[in-house]
Amino acid sequence: MPSRFQSYKSFFKQLTLAVVLLTTLPILMGAKKEYTVPVEGLDSALRKPHRIPIKRMFPDKPKFATLKKSPDRTYTMDRPKPLKRQTWWTIPKELKNKAFACQFNKQHVIVVDKEKGGALVAQWMIDQLNEREARNLPTTFGLATGSSPIPVYENLVKAFREQKFKTDNLSTINLDEYIGLEPGDSNSYKQFMRQHLIADLELTDDQFHIFDSQAQSENDPEIQRLQKLLTQNPRHFQLLGIGENGHIGFNEPDDTLSAETPTRIVKLTESTRKANAPYFGGDTTKVPTHARTLGPKDILHAERIVVLAWGEKKKAAIANSILGPIKPQVPASLLQKHLNVVWVMDAEAAATLFKQGGRVTREMARQFPTLFQTPEK
Ligand code: GLP
Repeated sequence: MPSRFQSYKSFFKQLTLAVVLLTTLPILMGAKKEYTVPVEGLDSALRKPHRIPIKRMFPDKPKFATLKKSPDRTYTMDRPKPLKRQTWWTIPKELKNKAFACQFNKQHVIVVDKEKGGALVAQWMIDQLNEREARNLPTTFGLATGSSPIPVYENLVKAFREQKFKTDNLSTINLDEYIGLEPGDSNSYKQFMRQHLIADLELTDDQFHIFDSQAQSENDPEIQRLQKLLTQNPRHFQLLGIGENGHIGFNEPDDTLSAETPTRIVKLTESTRKANAPYFGGDTTKVPTHARTLGPKDILHAERIVVLAWGEKKKAAIANSILGPIKPQVPASLLQKHLNVVWVMDAEAAATLFKQGGRVTREMARQFPTLFQTPEK
């Protein structure tokens, strides 16, 4: 009869064998197709060398990445996603009762008037830039055009003149640009950005990136050029406006649109051309028919996103985007897939959202009467 000690010994032997088999077999058989691994040391873990060193792609992010095994037994890597929702934004004490933060459908919404909202968002951007600067890290902002970001840009320019931040380690990438305008055309988004921000922040051509407005050519090298810049400069912050039809950038409502849609050339809808006609002397025919735009896939890769919406015209798009469902006919609803979006809007833009989905506190009603009064169409 085996002694008690011997039977313990053989039991542990069998247990060890089972554990070893269970952990190594799936790997040996290639059953495991995805690995979540720390980004640190990833270069050596990848069998094929990456074109951009991992450290440069994520200088300050020792988080996790997903490796996918392909049939040729090499690995490709997804960008690491933030693991949880963060509340990186703050509302300073002086805005108490003037800016209200609430949540709809797990999305952060801040109701504030346009002037104070511009200052608030500019401050978040400056804080992020300074915080990274203190750690000697470069920062990339994704920027938007249109009337919505103007109050933010005004505040950034003011703060730069007051030496509240430096731009030596800042680069910017714009969302979109019309196709078919002369390089110096005052209606191009390049000129818009120079006029409202870039010149005042003293950013050089190496720091300010935007699609060219030249006409499209075969294989469009312009899309490839920007795509490369996006990979080399992961955006830490993305500013967005929203179209009356719910578009972001120039991603128009379209049955084929998804969170995976890439950066590409698009045809503009009549409603967008009409909405943008005031910049072209009110003549819709002068608004280009096509544009280049970051696709939802690239937009969603930014670390933090802020969407700005001012005025009644945006109230339907805002309610549909935040309350959902997520659908290609409402492009901004795709932002629900991102964990760190903050929607900043005035009471006029928030009117339908609050009527359909929320509670207006007495304090909010006193500060923002339009949350009650705006007649619904
Ligand atoms: C344009 C831009 C968008 C912008 C939208 C809203 O179509 N391509 O990026 O968000 O206009 O413009 P506005 O802020 O003037 O309402």
